[in-house]
Amino acid sequence: MESSAVVPATTIDAAPTAPSTSAREVPALDRESFRQVLNVTALRVPNRKCSEMMKAFRGFTLDRPRLRCIVQNGDSSETKLLLLDENIKLEDLPPELLNRMQAEGVTLATTNHPVVLDYSMLSTDAVLKRLLPAGVDAPSSFETIGHIAHLNLRDEQLPYRHLIGTVLLDKNPHLKTVVNKLGSIENQYRVFEMEVIAGEKKLETEVTQHGARFRLDFSQVYWNSRLESEHLRLVSSFQQGQVLVDMMAGIGPFAIPAAQKGLTVYANDLNPRSAHYLAVNARLNRLGPSGLHVFNMDGRAFLRLLNSADLGSLPDVPECFAPPAGGVVFDHLVMNLPASAIEFLDALSGAFDPATWSERSLPWVHCYTFKRAAETEADILAKAEHYLGGPLEPGSCSVHTVRDVAPNKLMLCLSFRVPRDVAFLGRAA
Ligand SMILES: C[S@@+](CC[C@H](N)C(=O)[O-])C[C@H]1O[C@@H](n2cnc3c(N)ncnc32)[C@H](O)[C@@H]1O
Repeated sequence: MESSAVVPATTIDAAPTAPSTSAREVPALDRESFRQVLNVTALRVPNRKCSEMMKAFRGFTLDRPRLRCIVQNGDSSETKLLLLDENIKLEDLPPELLNRMQAEGVTLATTNHPVVLDYSMLSTDAVLKRLLPAGVDAPSSFETIGHIAHLNLRDEQLPYRHLIGTVLLDKNPHLKTVVNKLGSIENQYRVFEMEVIAGEKKLETEVTQHGARFRLDFSQVYWNSRLESEHLRLVSSFQQGQVLVDMMAGIGPFAIPAAQKGLTVYANDLNPRSAHYLAVNARLNRLGPSGLHVFNMDGRAFLRLLNSADLGSLPDVPECFAPPAGGVVFDHLVMNLPASAIEFLDALSGAFDPATWSERSLPWVHCYTFKRAAETEADILAKAEHYLGGPLEPGSCSVHTVRDVAPNKLMLCLSFRVPRDVAFLGRAA
């Protein structure tokens, strides 16, 4: 089981020189061809001075993944060899270091100590730099979802996708599958088309976030590892014993940890596969049916169901669920569908039964949305008020920036208490 993370695809490393590949042909991955012998300068260092000399020579020593710069000196039990970078000769060392060598009894052993480099010692970047033609960069990062690496390759990288995927698998033994996003179109369930470019064609995986386990099929449901800290931030603001309604719950990254924290959770998603994995994840995390209630319906209908309104006209009402008269009393409503959740705020207008709510605090809403560069926070608040059909109450509204989604696009979380005028609009007291 792997936790999810966003990691850099490459680390900086110098590649052995090799003829560059023409733009059209896709080179074969011949791992043996990466074998190379470097001849480096080796200094003989008394054993007890090794760590001191490593520090003194920092910046001049051999610095390669999986290779040590201090090695055995043949059979000697008195001395070891300190290996210099392959581009550094004794005469390149600054005079003060040469003086220090003399003072500490460090001597030149050889200018030709052989160091064998092979494929396993090179970084992803070093391997791909050698294989990809000029003008085609190695991918700079990828997202990890359990055993799956998710890439968004650029057009010029596409002919080399299988090669890139294979190198990523070689260099990241915990990965089993590499997928590339196809096109930019995501459907209503926020799931995108993908191609398996290397490894097993197995897209069901498991991730952990803050101690909770999530099983998901990455080709069927929405999942974004970059939201991990936002999930934690919001759930941390909830109190044990409260009631959470998650209108667009996905596979449960707010709902499951909230239920684990001791909230009662009503979690819904329109995507039947998300609802399926919500239920799977509730069991995986040993949550009882009374802690997490799973629904699979449109978000607006879900809210009307919980508020016990117009039940007769609702499709897809789970047979086993009957809300209490006057509706479910809840403390928080999460709406994480940033592309359009703000439009769903109209579902709050007149949605609360005054008989249930007039003496209670109304719920907090946490509505995710995007803000373009040309928009201000005031524009976003005005948009929220437009869909609510009434003004937000002063002092009970905050805007949190979640992350940069694109150069001119921020994801925000707008948190506010449902305004009383909106909640009871058109409802007799
Ligand atoms: C951006 S994802 C967020 C999922 C989850 N809350 C998370 O943080 O990972 C939005 C979710 O909204 C669901 N969705 C889309 N339209 C919906 C609707 N009309 N009613 C309820 N859920 C909807 C999608 O299936 C998707 O799982």
